[in-house]
Amino acid sequence: MLSNRLSGKIALVTGIGSGIGKGCALMFARHGAKVMGCDIHAGTAEETLALARREELAITSLHPCDLTEPRDVGRLIEATVERYAGIDILLNAAAFGAFAWIEESNLHDEVHPTFGVRGVHTKSHWQCCDNPA
Ligand SMILES: NC(=O)c1ccc[n+]([C@@H]2O[C@H](COP(=O)([O-])OP(=O)(O)OC[C@H]3O[C@@H](n4cnc5c(N)ncnc54)[C@H](O)[C@@H]3O)[C@@H](O)[C@H]2O)c1
Repeated sequence: MLSNRLSGKIALVTGIGSGIGKGCALMFARHGAKVMGCDIHAGTAEETLALARREELAITSLHPCDLTEPRDVGRLIEATVERYAGIDILLNAAAFGAFAWIEESNLHDEVHPTFGVRGVHTKSHWQCCDNPA
């Protein structure tokens, strides 16, 4: 533990299996927050939980959880509120990097023709923020 700066805070962090979500989940917990995470990939989420256990950090996770699916977002919010009775911090980190020429992309397509982004950037952020919890 690095500090008690976030002691008493509940953080919901998406995409804890890798990158920004993984780093922020671990860092929030190292500063005293209780973290609920999620990822579409169960294996990588479990790896993050294993790291957390080694440091006795308070991170749990719902996985696999596909944040483009409203039902999965609902399950995630419900699980968080049921366990911790609220959410103080929401970090929307789940995403895919997608790089393509504008001519090959279509803002309105749910499935990116090349990278299969499935609207995660817009849908997951909107759905997590739009939840009444
Ligand atoms: N890493 C950087 O330096 C950086 C800089 C600027 C912007 N970004 C952007 O931030 C976002 C995250 O970057 P990152 O480096 O952490 O990426 P990452 O690929 O390392 O991690 C993203 C995580 O989100 C998960 N995820 C993807 N789709 C999901 C879904 N539908 N439901 C649940 N989980 C899902 C992935 O499994 C993965 O674990 C990307 O859009 C990236 O382009 C990253």
